[in-house]
Amino acid sequence: MYEKRSSSLIDTISNNNKKRIPIWLMRQAGRYLPEYRKIREKEGSFLTMCLNPKLASEITLQPLKRYDLDAAIVFSDILTIPLALGKKVEFKENRGPEIETVKDKKEVENLEFNRREFLEPVYETLEIVKKKKPKECALIGFAGAPFTLAAYMTQGSGEKNFVKCVSFFNQEERAFLLLLDKLADLTAFHLINQIKSGAEVLQIFDSHAKIAAENNKLREFCINPVEKIIKRVRQETNNSYIICFPRNIGRNYIEYAANLELNCISLDQNVDRRWAIENIRPKNQIRCYQGNLDPKILVKGGKRMQEETKRILQDFADVNHIFNLGHGVLKETAPENITELIKIIRDQEK
Ligand code: CP3
Repeated sequence: MYEKRSSSLIDTISNNNKKRIPIWLMRQAGRYLPEYRKIREKEGSFLTMCLNPKLASEITLQPLKRYDLDAAIVFSDILTIPLALGKKVEFKENRGPEIETVKDKKEVENLEFNRREFLEPVYETLEIVKKKKPKECALIGFAGAPFTLAAYMTQGSGEKNFVKCVSFFNQEERAFLLLLDKLADLTAFHLINQIKSGAEVLQIFDSHAKIAAENNKLREFCINPVEKIIKRVRQETNNSYIICFPRNIGRNYIEYAANLELNCISLDQNVDRRWAIENIRPKNQIRCYQGNLDPKILVKGGKRMQEETKRILQDFADVNHIFNLGHGVLKETAPENITELIKIIRDQEK
């Protein structure tokens, strides 16, 4: 069904003969890299960088110049979707994003995809990266899952407990479901266009899925909208691979995967790997796991990182595995620790 490609990530995710363990890191381009900070200081704003394909493509390629990685993830952000729906979003250094909220049903009904200029630069960025990247590197496109986007859009920020989001969906469940549905439509459109522009793999980030799971709404708020997206993407594209990352949902990973046709499930650092291999199976029975080194262990480096990395490789030795972190690279990470991490993994393959 899928065209054969010479990337170890594509080989692993499509269960082809493995050449080597594919490695990439969530947030591999970002503030821990001096070459990123240099551009950031000059441009002044993160959003300006995302919306400029020349800069965004350069930043996407920065980690590939330094490290022996198997994938490039396009430099952008999940919050371009609320921007495309006409909402204001501000990225404040060290404070996380601030989003203009939707307050009631009427506002949800009035949301319209009227700001294409917030999504289109990503497609051009992908086209540039596709031409410039090494051919063994897979190109990853991404989006936030509808629930995580709706959480930001009803909360107004990434505040830990999402209290306003929870009271919104408790009081106005139908409006919240309509919001999820609108977000699913636009996200499917965005992902399909990323594939058309050169992305070979898609990752859907449901960073705050835990809030839905804790309120017994995983099925309605997380699984159903993502199912709609996956169906659409598969209808419109014929060779895309989909990774889902429903972060921190614990045992609910079982239900999540069992109901979705995924090519790979990404695990956060709190998931027990052996339990995961035993119990987490996507609907289509494909077994490929991504993860799950704790980003804090990467910050510390040294012997602890070496031991933990070896344990991860051992635990996943008999299944398809994409090496990654359990969440994004932290900004206090020393770039040399990533060099070291990749060396540990490559040495194990010998
Ligand atoms: O992984 C990559 O290298 C690709 C680029 C990427 C970014 N954001 C760049 C970014 C990706 C895949 C994302 C996804 C994203 N964005 C998620 C899902 C993954 C996760 O972290 O849970 C979420 C929740 C967001 C929303 C968002 N954007 C937050 C919470 C923040 C602030 C956090 C911080 O580190 O300051 C951003 C800003 C952001 N997105 C930065 C980068 C490099 C930092 C921008 C800067 O200050 O220079």
